[in-house]
Amino acid sequence: MKTRFEGKVALVVGGANADESRLLGFAGLSALEIARDGGIVVIADIDDEAGERSVGKMRDAGLTADYVHLNVTSESDWFAAVEMTVSKHNRLDILIMAAGIPDRGETIESTDVDAWRNVMDVTNLGMFLGTRSVVESMRASGGGSIVLISSMMARVVRDQANAYATSRAGMTHFARSAAVQYGSDNIRVNCVLPGWTLTPFTSSAFNDEWSERLAKRVPLGRVADASDIAGPILFLASDEAKYVTGSELLADGGVTGWIGPMD
Ligand SMILES: NC(=O)c1ccc[n+]([C@@H]2O[C@H](COP(=O)([O-])OP(=O)(O)OC[C@H]3O[C@@H](n4cnc5c(N)ncnc54)[C@H](O)[C@@H]3O)[C@@H](O)[C@H]2O)c1
Repeated sequence: MKTRFEGKVALVVGGANADESRLLGFAGLSALEIARDGGIVVIADIDDEAGERSVGKMRDAGLTADYVHLNVTSESDWFAAVEMTVSKHNRLDILIMAAGIPDRGETIESTDVDAWRNVMDVTNLGMFLGTRSVVESMRASGGGSIVLISSMMARVVRDQANAYATSRAGMTHFARSAAVQYGSDNIRVNCVLPGWTLTPFTSSAFNDEWSERLAKRVPLGRVADASDIAGPILFLASDEAKYVTGSELLADGGVTGWIGPMD
């Protein structure tokens, strides 16, 4: 029987943390699972050391994986990564776009303009350049799946990090727009909205004490790990979601549905 990702070629951007001997990112774990399931994976990131190490370990385990340097704000980097993928593997079926940077902005007035631009560029310019870089190859492959990693912060806000929340909300609207434009090409575009998840992205902030405090705000009673988010990503990437496009899949343990404890 054919496996879920057999014969599929996936470009996983922001997936450098795919080394199981270290803390996994959820795009990294998604890359690992696609390769284990018979797919071909190209990991792209700016963290070349982590990316090369992850791909080296995947190859040692007999999996098919490549690494390419890609800064999501550079159109020429996107072009080169897609070109490398298609010339080597003849097709492109899946784009997972998970590149992100934290937002240290406190109030709107105190947020530095360059810091605002940087968050917007990595998230919003990144998704725009990424989507337009892959559609032609996906069309030639008979269709494809683009999974944009947004955040539960697209739905709720804090009293800080305005740029992050705004950029993540922009992502969900972009996904709907791209889903409409590329539906007739059988290219699906969806978002995953993760909640608090322990990954390299959050590990410096999520010490045990902070994780325990956060867990009290989560109906499922714990912060997530990479596997909690990779599941929804892989679902949307796969043909199991073949009629799902323009959607937002919340993977937040119930946080955004809860008004909070009534004490
Ligand atoms: N961990 C969480 O709690 C959480 C929650 C919601 C959303 N997110 C988002 O999920 C995504 C994946 O994060 P993760 O938690 O798996 O951590 P992660 O650190 O494994 O993934 C983020 C990756 O993005 C890469 N990156 C940063 N800037 C880049 C750029 N300009 N070009 C290419 N790559 C770049 C980093 O090198 C890193 O490998 C991020 O966008 C993050 O904002 C994370």
